[in-house]
Amino acid sequence: MNILGISGSLRAASFNTALLHAAQELAPAGMSITIHRLHDLPLFNQDVEEQGDPESVVVLKQAIDQADGVLLACPEYNGGITGVLKNAIDWVSRPGRDRKTAALAGKLVCIAGASPGITGTVRAQDQLRLILRRAGAQTEPQGEVLVFQAHTKIVDGQLTDERTRDALARHLQGYATRLAALRG
Ligand SMILES: Cc1cc2nc3c(=O)[nH]c(=O)nc-3n(C[C@H](O)[C@H](O)[C@H](O)COP(=O)(O)O)c2cc1C
Repeated sequence: MNILGISGSLRAASFNTALLHAAQELAPAGMSITIHRLHDLPLFNQDVEEQGDPESVVVLKQAIDQADGVLLACPEYNGGITGVLKNAIDWVSRPGRDRKTAALAGKLVCIAGASPGITGTVRAQDQLRLILRRAGAQTEPQGEVLVFQAHTKIVDGQLTDERTRDALARHLQGYATRLAALRG
């Protein structure tokens, strides 16, 4: 089971990217998570899309095609998802000039998020679910991973809090079970 992990933060010391690294360690047997960086993705522009996807968009779409599922680590900015993540979703929610289907269509997406605040990205995750459904993806509904006060649980890029590690491991196990059930 190959999962594509995407962080909605470009920050070098991002808590959300650290959460993806923890997910790589805690993934259940048979699941492997590859992290895809969004640093080279241009801002969505429909004129550019009509000329053909830029290389970084082609690569992202292919990575999603080849993955069994997508794990999004979602920061919260001003009560919503980051522009970085929304921009990526906008690109992959559409086929573009050279494809028949959108890369995201039908994918089962797993969500987690970390924030130094006390609500742990709950507003951003709610918004992300709506956006993903609009984009034709399915979302993993079983529970939430809301890493609140992330600065106390992620130290030097390592998820150190045992309860959060357990919660993330359970979340990933639930996701693996759902993916396996969908495969039939
Ligand atoms: C523009 C901006 C808006 C933010 N708004 C929120 C917010 O609404 N809720 C929240 O919990 N944290 C908010 N934060 C704090 C972020 O959660 C914090 O910067 C976090 O570290 C970002 O995720 P990252 O560590 O993965 O980069 C905001 C940060 C920025 C830069």
